[in-house]
Amino acid sequence: MSTELSIPILDLKAQYATIHDEIHAAIDRVLESQQFILGPEVEALEKEVATYSQCQFGIGVSSGTDALLVSLMAIGLQPGDEVITSPYSFFATAGAIARLGARPVFVDVDVDTLNINAAGIEAKITERTRAVLPVHLAGQVADMDVILEIARSHHLFVIEDACQAIGADYKGRRAGSLGHLGCFSFFPSKNLGGAGDSGMVVSNDAVLADRVMLLRNHGHRPKYYSQIIGGNFRMDALQAAILRAKFTYLESWTEHRRQNADCYRRLFFQAGLASDEAGSKEQMPVLLPKETGWGRHIYHLFQVRVRDRDKLMAHLAQCGIGTEIYYPVPLHLQACFKGMNFQKGDFPNAERLAQEILALPIYPELSESQIERVVRTIKEYYL
Ligand SMILES: Cc1ncc(COP(=O)(O)O)c(C=O)c1O
Repeated sequence: MSTELSIPILDLKAQYATIHDEIHAAIDRVLESQQFILGPEVEALEKEVATYSQCQFGIGVSSGTDALLVSLMAIGLQPGDEVITSPYSFFATAGAIARLGARPVFVDVDVDTLNINAAGIEAKITERTRAVLPVHLAGQVADMDVILEIARSHHLFVIEDACQAIGADYKGRRAGSLGHLGCFSFFPSKNLGGAGDSGMVVSNDAVLADRVMLLRNHGHRPKYYSQIIGGNFRMDALQAAILRAKFTYLESWTEHRRQNADCYRRLFFQAGLASDEAGSKEQMPVLLPKETGWGRHIYHLFQVRVRDRDKLMAHLAQCGIGTEIYYPVPLHLQACFKGMNFQKGDFPNAERLAQEILALPIYPELSESQIERVVRTIKEYYL
């Protein structure tokens, strides 16, 4: 066991130490107001996040999962409908589709970007297809121009799962603003994370945004008069106030994450563990995440692909370095989807990623010497 201090996959305590007073002031404000659900704090956050995401409307909801669910409800998704999405994501992406009785139709991902292979979408469209739900995994936007063009020509809705991608750009446009509806998660570990669950739907479509607003609170308009069947997908004011305090730091945290990614790249190349040359990079023990060049990657996660992943992970853990597997099981192989007749081998890239992927610490407070130690420890394992 290493005697050095451990490096966790994420160090929220380090972040909290830098913003302790602001967080407490935000909590006090809500406690003094005694208004705990929706209200002015939520409305202010909705405006701030919508503007930041180049959207006219923001609707605070109870989680990223509920942002996806309520968005699919807002487009009127019906049992038997189909939604085209990625087989390599957090469960909620496909779960939200299936919960409404619709079918997730998967298109395999690109192993280098981890995002849906946009060129494969058109072949999966049937008369039951209602929407495309691309995921901007790890903080990099999927190839939205191709996706939007396919969706436009087939009259499909586009809902972005931007739960990992707040502040990411695609050709000058922000994640969440590209499709009809964009979904964010404020799960504590996210780049903008609360002190519990919450999320947001953003949009530039007034009709859909209004529908999401209605659905979030039992379709009430006015109060106690339900126009449509919705649910309780409301956001808590305490989450909104805390998120507003943290939001002022989001840009600088994102830049630190990006600097950390650059630092990893430089050190992995120097260590001879990775290469960016086509042809030789596949022979290296570490394959680095590819930046598409379409816009800003916000590095919610720094996902490398490695040989001997599980053994390397155990070695890093023994040396006090936290890593994580996002995700060990592709969506089409989840036990709960057994009845949908997906087979092993249907989406080979997603299956390969589940074997090879490893997330390294990338949080903004990580120092260069900590990154050096991560790379050195990986080098010890391979060389
Ligand atoms: C890609 C993706 N989709 C959906 C979600 C669901 O968000 P939440 O955990 O806030 O419900 C998450 C976050 O965990 C996510 O990473």
